Amino acid sequence: MRVLLTGATGFVGSHVLARLLRDGDHSVAVVLRAASARWRIADLLGRVHVIEGDLARASELAEPVGRFSPEAVLHLAWGHVADREQSPLLQVDNVRDTVQLVTLAHSAGARHFLGAGSQAEYGPCPHGIDEGQPTRPSTPYGIAKLCAGLLAEQMCRALDMRYAWFRIFSAYGPMDLPTTMISRVGRALLSGERPATTRGDQLWDYLYVADAAEAIHGVLEEPAARGVFNLGSGRVQTIRSVIERLRDLIRPGAELGLGELAYGPDQLMHLEANVERVRRTIGWEAVTDLDTGLSNTVAWLRRVQGS
Ligand SMILES: NC(=O)c1ccc[n+]([C@@H]2O[C@H](COP(=O)([O-])OP(=O)(O)OC[C@H]3O[C@@H](n4cnc5c(N)ncnc54)[C@H](OP(=O)(O)O)[C@@H]3O)[C@@H](O)[C@H]2O)c1
Repeated sequence: MRVLLTGATGFVGSHVLARLLRDGDHSVAVVLRAASARWRIADLLGRVHVIEGDLARASELAEPVGRFSPEAVLHLAWGHVADREQSPLLQVDNVRDTVQLVTLAHSAGARHFLGAGSQAEYGPCPHGIDEGQPTRPSTPYGIAKLCAGLLAEQMCRALDMRYAWFRIFSAYGPMDLPTTMISRVGRALLSGERPATTRGDQLWDYLYVADAAEAIHGVLEEPAARGVFNLGSGRVQTIRSVIERLRDLIRPGAELGLGELAYGPDQLMHLEANVERVRRTIGWEAVTDLDTGLSNTVAWLRRVQGS
């Protein structure tokens, strides 16, 4: 299939790109900004068609995207993921970019539009979440994701394109952003520091990023897969137990600063995906257990930190 991928330089996107290229059955184009940091996909760039451009200037993408003529558009790009709680106006830009991309996809002849949403679309929920759960997002990021997903769905229906939207829970793994809890604690432990954390009573669903990429690839390849799909592991553990496992992998016996950080006002205490829908639709389930996923993550962190 001819696939146009946005967000390929990002954490999730880089793993999705690797999965798309693995079996050699897709022709892939990626949209890259001039300033995009390309280190995550440096070894893959020779195998993809690069379209230089910015989603914020969609009109400039029309000609090169039309020339590539994708059958499917896989939209993982999103600006301001790391500082997502602070920037309502910048989140609005992401909604506009998503809407423009659906139009662009249709004009270029694509029949499938798939995009990345987030668990944040649901808002706080003290139990497992399936796709029928009412959406009550409590952050600008969650509100913008929900808005982008609904607009894309409505447009795809009108334009007769297949629509799929991935509500990703917490992905982790090699090449993750340095700001996530696992990255931050892992890096501190490897540097010999005592990581300050919350008490860690939150129950959390962590999904290994290669499993997320496998699910996204599976939905792309199944034409009957439509609508919203939760992507999580479907398993929860306390954040404290994740921190302790990281410590045991990196510096057993090292002191932890559990409880040194207060919970934020919007702290989610329970995040749990029900992944029955994606399992039934494409037969996917998360296959990487937390110990394996954390070991791979720590091995990568060791390489980049030289420790
Ligand atoms: N990671 C998770 O646990 C998680 C959870 C829920 C949902 N998600 C969603 O999954 C997607 C991928 O997340 P991630 O963690 O991989 O994020 P990330 O590492 O921050 O990657 C974001 C990507 O979007 C690209 N981008 C942003 N604005 C753009 C623009 N105007 N034009 C072109 N490209 C643009 C970035 O390109 P540059 O390199 O040019 O900056 C980068 O490739 C996002 O939609 C995110 O909201 C992720």
